[in-house]
Amino acid sequence: MARVSDFEKAARARAAREKAKATARAGEAAETTASATASGGEGSSLPESPEAVIASIPVRFPTVVAEGASETGVEPASALSGPTSAAVSTSEAPAATPAANEEAETQSPAGGRKWRGVREPRIALSNALFEKARTRMPGGVSSPVRSFASVGGTPFFVKKARGAELIDVDGNHYIDYVMSYGPLVFGHAPASILAAVRRAVSRGTSYGAPCKGEVELADRVVSTFPSIERVRFVSSGTEAAMSAIRLARAATSRDLVIKFSGCYHGHADSFLVAAGSGVATLGIPGSPGVPPSLASLTLTARYNDLDSVASLFAAHRNRIAAIVVEPVAANMGVVLPKPGFLQGLREIADRHGALLLFDEVITGFRLAKGGAQELYGVRPDLTCLGKILGGGLPVGAYGGRADLMAQIAPDGPVYQAGTLSGNPLAMAAGKVMLDSLVPAVYERLEKTADELERGMRKIAHDLGVADRLTLNRVGSILTLFFVGGGVDNFDDAKRSDLNAFRRWFHGLRRRGVFVAPAAFEAMFVSTAHGPRQLAATLKAHKSALAEAFEIGQEQEKIR
Ligand SMILES: Cc1ncc(COP(=O)(O)O)c(C=O)c1O
Repeated sequence: MARVSDFEKAARARAAREKAKATARAGEAAETTASATASGGEGSSLPESPEAVIASIPVRFPTVVAEGASETGVEPASALSGPTSAAVSTSEAPAATPAANEEAETQSPAGGRKWRGVREPRIALSNALFEKARTRMPGGVSSPVRSFASVGGTPFFVKKARGAELIDVDGNHYIDYVMSYGPLVFGHAPASILAAVRRAVSRGTSYGAPCKGEVELADRVVSTFPSIERVRFVSSGTEAAMSAIRLARAATSRDLVIKFSGCYHGHADSFLVAAGSGVATLGIPGSPGVPPSLASLTLTARYNDLDSVASLFAAHRNRIAAIVVEPVAANMGVVLPKPGFLQGLREIADRHGALLLFDEVITGFRLAKGGAQELYGVRPDLTCLGKILGGGLPVGAYGGRADLMAQIAPDGPVYQAGTLSGNPLAMAAGKVMLDSLVPAVYERLEKTADELERGMRKIAHDLGVADRLTLNRVGSILTLFFVGGGVDNFDDAKRSDLNAFRRWFHGLRRRGVFVAPAAFEAMFVSTAHGPRQLAATLKAHKSALAEAFEIGQEQEKIR
């Protein structure tokens, strides 16, 4: 007889409990759907009025549900934060302080090792899952950064997520600044997006034929981005960038593209090109499997350095199809374009008959509804979108000038297709997301992120380490670089003290704050981050930063 491991036994017991809960919730879900339909949900093209959205933006952060509440089968509605007012309870029940394991310790003292007065997160179940995952999946993960390879330790496995909070399978709570790397403007599981997906799923999950949701979402994209006259939906940002560059090459009959060192455009071959100094004119494969002949078609320039771009054009006259850029770089950490940089790229591209492609997979709908191009007033020829566009479901898109997009099949000869493209669930989530992005959302994001930035700066100053740090922020994305003197490009970013970053990461994690487990990523602020989350985050940050720089507690000058 096959031996049943403890892990499998535990998994089966959990599955049985989940099944019982699912049955209990089925009635609830049916009720939700029925009431949504009654209020015009089914088939109505505008699920929310902007006024309802503004009214729903919580002034006070809603209560985060205590771990275990959902074990009763009751959805933690009071934990929801997002575009739907119904989800936000004003009569807040006393509940666990979000994340902050220091405080959680007094409520749940069982287990865990103490570290300078902080309980180590429990990791038994995550450990077991990771062990098993590593025997089934490369690195045990579906995307490399999730493995904690660059910070060490065991990644936690998420059990569920609500508002600004993640809860892992071991019951640890985290205030989340990863936010799925960008899509979740309203935090996790906003009620109106869940409701839209529930309604959509009841009509089928994929058709292989056009659906109304695609037209409605395309209409919203085109009316939000003046530079996008036609849009094609795909399933990821990688696919969007890969397809857009194919179009740029076809439209210009040129092969070379320029990207910037430290910018990321997904993992298509053309973009996996090493970005180190000395290779500005020479593509070098950044991954085995990318043929050098293909990598050599990608030229790398320095972010914020127009001369580096101009000299590539001088060296490769009439051969460069496009300049591809994250208008605000967010994949070398957040790096802002210097004044005139994006305008300069527009001029250089025009001068040389090349296209300007903005990869707004992160910045689109985040820095402003119309993305970085709205914020900085520069009009690209082509734009890539993703993340927020899908409201947390897998979507990408590329679009731009009508004459360019007319070259895409079936209108034109440039082939690109997708089985799940325009997926009805993703279209439904995207529609609610975009309709919910009213000006008050950006005001709130700006206010929260500004407070977070100021708090982090003050702590660095009080600890006497401000000159060893750089904090870059625009809107709701920010990065704390462990290097002083400013970060304007990837060379600057690479001077970061990665050991200090690791200590900071783990110090935050111990205290229930989750930032990306890699130094060159952004922190994402959502509308679900409120005063209580900020206070808990800054408290954790103060201790974690002291640990990062190995400042003894007696040396901490925090009053
Ligand atoms: C700017 C940018 N472009 C493209 C991508 C690739 O998107 P995806 O991971 O959906 O393939 C990313 C992913 O983080 C990104 O940040």
